[in-house]
Amino acid sequence: MNNELIDAVIQSRTEQGSGIAVLELVAKDGKPLPEFTAGAHIDVHVGNGLIRQYSLCNDPASNDAYRIGVLNDPNSRGGSVKIHTDFAANQTVSISAPRNHFPLNENATKTILAGGGIGITPMMAMAYRLLREGKDFELHYCTRTKGAGAFEQELVAEFGDRVVFHYDDQDKSQLFAPQTTFSPVDPGTHIYVCGPTGFMDWVIDNAKKIGYPSEQVHFEYFSADVDTTGESFEVYCEQSDVTVTVGTNDTIAKALQKAGIKVSMSCEEGVCGTCITDVLEGEPDHRDHFLTDEEKADNDQIALCCSRAKCSRLVIDL
Ligand code: FES
Repeated sequence: MNNELIDAVIQSRTEQGSGIAVLELVAKDGKPLPEFTAGAHIDVHVGNGLIRQYSLCNDPASNDAYRIGVLNDPNSRGGSVKIHTDFAANQTVSISAPRNHFPLNENATKTILAGGGIGITPMMAMAYRLLREGKDFELHYCTRTKGAGAFEQELVAEFGDRVVFHYDDQDKSQLFAPQTTFSPVDPGTHIYVCGPTGFMDWVIDNAKKIGYPSEQVHFEYFSADVDTTGESFEVYCEQSDVTVTVGTNDTIAKALQKAGIKVSMSCEEGVCGTCITDVLEGEPDHRDHFLTDEEKADNDQIALCCSRAKCSRLVIDL
């Protein structure tokens, strides 16, 4: 993983839809930015030690600039509000190189993209890529109210009738219906979903109920309400030769930090993957929304920020 920070300049900021700031970022030194693939995100260093992840929503064929959309969410932990308040055109910000935990399967014969609210952002980069590759795809954009979404004109101009808008406050006939959209199950079709947790859970559940195997249903959570509490257990860090006790209301990460062991973290709610660590012994109690069902079943990785143990002792590779 490339951890070097990039000095970027906010080339432009525009307000779109309902409370969405669209930022275009370019390298301060004027050079092209690192290349990225559809579904990638960057870390944005927001200030006061806050680091937040935002999906890149421009065409991955161009790395002259990165574009992100930031919803002003007063219920967030402060990152998006700070960006809305503090970030202006021509300002310098520190960002990471792009990372992609949400890649496109480019062997799919058909791709269905479902974006709820600000979850449209990674879907746009995917749609640009699929369009360039001449692939069969459809993009469903769900928002609470007509006019609340960003990028609508661009989506129509670029993707034409491949994009379908669904508004919660409009006629029932145009609401997104995953059961209908995803049927019948097709082995070559891959489904991608991003948006608010409830929307994502609903779409993923429907895809699975219809019969889609998890390897054909791809998702990226922005945030999650995770219950991190549970029975106390021990964690032994093999590299550091340190054992910590994780209390009922503690997380593994917090217990390790108290013992002076550095844990890389970003979202702290099981969605970004930054804290994923190898498990050498023991059975994790997975609470994250990052690992796939198959990865969870393998029990050889754990999200230290939220997951716990189903046994009295875990051994991790740290
Ligand atoms: S810090 Fe993001 S998954 Fe743990």
